[in-house]
Amino acid sequence: MKILDEPGTEPAQSSISYGALLEKIEIMRSSLRWPQSLERTQIQKLFNQTNALRDEVMRLSRTERFLTAKSRSAGEAKQTLTERRQALLDRQFRFEGVFGDNPKLIEALEIAEKAAPTDLPVLIDGESGTGKELMAKVIHANGDRTEAPFVTVNCGAIPDNLIESELFGHKKGSFTGASADRAGKFESANGGTIFLDEIGELPLAGQVKLLRVLQSNEIQRVGSDQVIKVDARIVAATNRRLLELCGQGAFREDLYYRLSIIQVTLPPLRERRDEIPLLIDFLTQEAAERLGREPVRLSRRLDRFLNGYDYPGNIRELRNMMFRLSCLAGAEADLEHLPEHIRPSTRTAAAEPAVGAASVPEDVSLTEAKRIASDAAEKRFLEAGLLATGGNVTKLAQRIDMNRAHVQTLLKKHGLSSKDYRGSKADNGAGSRIR
Ligand SMILES: Nc1ncnc2c1ncn2[C@@H]1O[C@H](COP(=O)(O)OP(=O)(O)OP(=O)(O)O)[C@@H](O)[C@H]1O
Ligand SMILES: [Mg+2]
Repeated sequence: MKILDEPGTEPAQSSISYGALLEKIEIMRSSLRWPQSLERTQIQKLFNQTNALRDEVMRLSRTERFLTAKSRSAGEAKQTLTERRQALLDRQFRFEGVFGDNPKLIEALEIAEKAAPTDLPVLIDGESGTGKELMAKVIHANGDRTEAPFVTVNCGAIPDNLIESELFGHKKGSFTGASADRAGKFESANGGTIFLDEIGELPLAGQVKLLRVLQSNEIQRVGSDQVIKVDARIVAATNRRLLELCGQGAFREDLYYRLSIIQVTLPPLRERRDEIPLLIDFLTQEAAERLGREPVRLSRRLDRFLNGYDYPGNIRELRNMMFRLSCLAGAEADLEHLPEHIRPSTRTAAAEPAVGAASVPEDVSLTEAKRIASDAAEKRFLEAGLLATGGNVTKLAQRIDMNRAHVQTLLKKHGLSSKDYRGSKADNGAGSRIR
C-alpha cells in the first residue's frame, strides 16, 4: 500500500488552502480503504500524518481568526493596524499561532519578518510568558532555514559546569561523566536556528565561547582542539535587562551588542490591556477546540476580574487560566474556577476593581505609577505563593507554571528569600490569596 509522502516533513506553506488539506486527507483515506492489515510502522506513519494535518488545520484556523478578528482600537490608527496585519498575511507571513492586534506586537512581527530571511542574530526581550519562544519560532518559520532544525537551549536550566558541553559538545574523558564523544546543540542546529533562551543566565566562560562563534562560526568541543565550522542562526531571549547585567559585569557588553543587532521587545500583557478581550476570545476558542467542548461563557464578574488582573505571568498565565476555566466550568465560568492563589473573595470581588492595586506616590508619571503598581502586584503574588508552598521554589514554579530559574530571578528582583518562608503553613486559604 502507498502511504503519502510524509506531509509532516514538508515545510507547511502559508498558502495551503482548506482545499489542499482536504486533498491530503482524501489521499490518506484512500490509502486506508483497502489494506486488510497494517504494519506497526505504517500505523506510525499514518499517525504522524494525521498529527501533521491536525496542526495544519489549527494553524489555518488561527490565521483565519487572526484575519477576521475585530480590532478594538478606534479611528485611523485602527485602519492602519488592520492594513498592516492584512499586509503581513498577504505576504504569506507565518504567524505560528501568535495572536493579537496591539501596535507593539504588529511592530515586533514586522521586525521579525524582515529579520527572518537574514542570518543576523536576533535578541528577543520581554517578561516571562510574553511569547519570546513563540517569536523565535516565528523568525525560524519565516526564514530560509525552515527545513533544518530549530534547537532550543535553556541557558538558565543547565548547571553552570555543563553548559559549555551542552552548547558545544565534548570529547570523551574531558570531564567526569563524559563517557563518549558528544555533539553539542550548535552542531545539532547546523543549517537551522539555535534558540538561546534565558541568555542572561549564561556564565561568563560560556559567553566568551559564544562570542567566538558569532565572530568566526567555529566551535570547539570541550576537551578538544579540533575546530568545527557551524552554521546556526542565533536567536536569543531574555527577561532580564541585559545592559544592567553588563553594568554589573555579569554579561559581556561586546556579546550584548553582537547579539542584539536586531532587537525585538515584547510588551507585557498589562501594557496591552486593550488586547485582553481579544485574547480571551481566541484562547477560549482554542481551549474549546482542544477539549472538545463549546466555548465557555464568562460570568460578568469573572470577565471584569480577567480584564483588570495584572498577569505577572503574561499571556502564558492568561492561556493557562482559559484552559483551566474551560476544563473546570460547565457552560459558564465564575470566580470560583480561578486558581486559588489569585481568586478574589466573592464577597468583595464586585467592589475590587483590580487585583494588585498598589498605593503610588502622587508626583510620578502614569507610566511610573503603572510600573510601581505592577511591581507591587508581582511581589505580593510571589509572597503569597511562597507562603502557600512553605518556601518551596520548585513547587511554586510548578504551581504558577513558570520556569524555576525565572522564579528565582523574580524572587531576587524583589529581595525575597524562600528561606524566610520555610516552615510556613502551606495553607491554601488566606496565605495564598492575593488581596
Ligand atoms: N501573541 C500570542 N498569541 C497567542 N499565544 C501566545 C502569544 N504570546 C504567547 N502566547 C502563548 O503563551 C505561552 C507562553 O509563550 P512563550 O513560551 O513563547 O513565552 P516566553 O516569553 O518564552 O516565556 P518565558 O520567559 O517564561 O520562557 C505559550 O503557550 C504561547 O503559545
Ligand atoms: Mg521562554
